[in-house]
Amino acid sequence: MRITVFGASGLLGQELVKEFSGEQLTALSSKDADLRDPSRIREVIRGSRPEWIILAAAYTDVDGCESNRDVAFGVNTQGAIHVALAAREAGSRLIFLSTDYLFDGKKGVPYEASDTRNPISVYGESKAQAEERLLEILPDVCIVRTSWLFGHGGPCFPATILKLAAARPEIAVVNDQRGCPTFTPDLASTLAQLCRKSARGIVHATNSGDCTRYEFAIEIVRASGMPTTVKPVTTAEFPRPARRPAYSVLSADSLHAYNVRMPEWQHALRRYLGSGPAAPVSVVL
Ligand SMILES: NC(=O)c1ccc[n+]([C@@H]2O[C@H](COP(=O)([O-])OP(=O)(O)OC[C@H]3O[C@@H](n4cnc5c(N)ncnc54)[C@H](OP(=O)(O)O)[C@@H]3O)[C@@H](O)[C@H]2O)c1
Repeated sequence: MRITVFGASGLLGQELVKEFSGEQLTALSSKDADLRDPSRIREVIRGSRPEWIILAAAYTDVDGCESNRDVAFGVNTQGAIHVALAAREAGSRLIFLSTDYLFDGKKGVPYEASDTRNPISVYGESKAQAEERLLEILPDVCIVRTSWLFGHGGPCFPATILKLAAARPEIAVVNDQRGCPTFTPDLASTLAQLCRKSARGIVHATNSGDCTRYEFAIEIVRASGMPTTVKPVTTAEFPRPARRPAYSVLSADSLHAYNVRMPEWQHALRRYLGSGPAAPVSVVL
């Protein structure tokens, strides 16, 4: 397979590079091709003639998006449109990485791929607008929504908790945001399977199971054997520039339709921490 990955230097992108190391891979960071430069995007896609493009590049600073709307929409919306137009011209298939943050969090039961987008942050809005435009430009686009990524090679929630727990006897973590942690090697493997299965439409791909940030932190501290106490707090006690959905659990039905399953997040966390047995990352039913 000829694959071109945008965002190859990111948390997910680094795992995609490993996952596709046996393929004809073109791996791009922002220095190689800025999503806001349509002629450069066209040039790299023409040059690499990919069968699949994986668009994992984004402006992912959720709070930063609130004060940098131009960058958020320039990269996440307009940049994605540039890639989709170039993909259409080159006859390439496209996987676009999207987010649970395009839901408002009021549903209370897992969000299906067909549920209505109603973002409550600039980041979510920039991704929601990208999804809508990409579906118009490329009817066979595959939009993969994921959530709460963690992995090696960049900042992530478990790394932050481990750092804080090593420095303090007690840490406070919000207990009113529920979602699905997702380990980047598991997601990279799932994306490879979705390419092979020629997936299209909207697919939700996260590790299975869900938790609050507090429950996630408890598991991180417990599994790493630290004596730190984790205290539950509310989002209202820790205001941030961007609102986050209180509930953004993504239903796996759209992924199961492709006969792909992802491991439980607790198992993924143990592998991240280096203490768990290697698991089959995605299992074909
Ligand atoms: N992290 C999460 O919890 C999460 C949750 C749901 C969905 N997602 C989505 O999953 C995807 C991967 O996220 P991630 O956490 O791996 O991202 P990340 O670690 O923040 O990496 C972002 C990547 O995008 C590239 N990039 C940023 N601005 C760019 C620009 N203007 N032009 C070209 N490339 C640019 C970066 O390149 P440089 O290194 O050169 O800057 C980097 O490779 C994103 O689409 C994100 O929206 C993430």
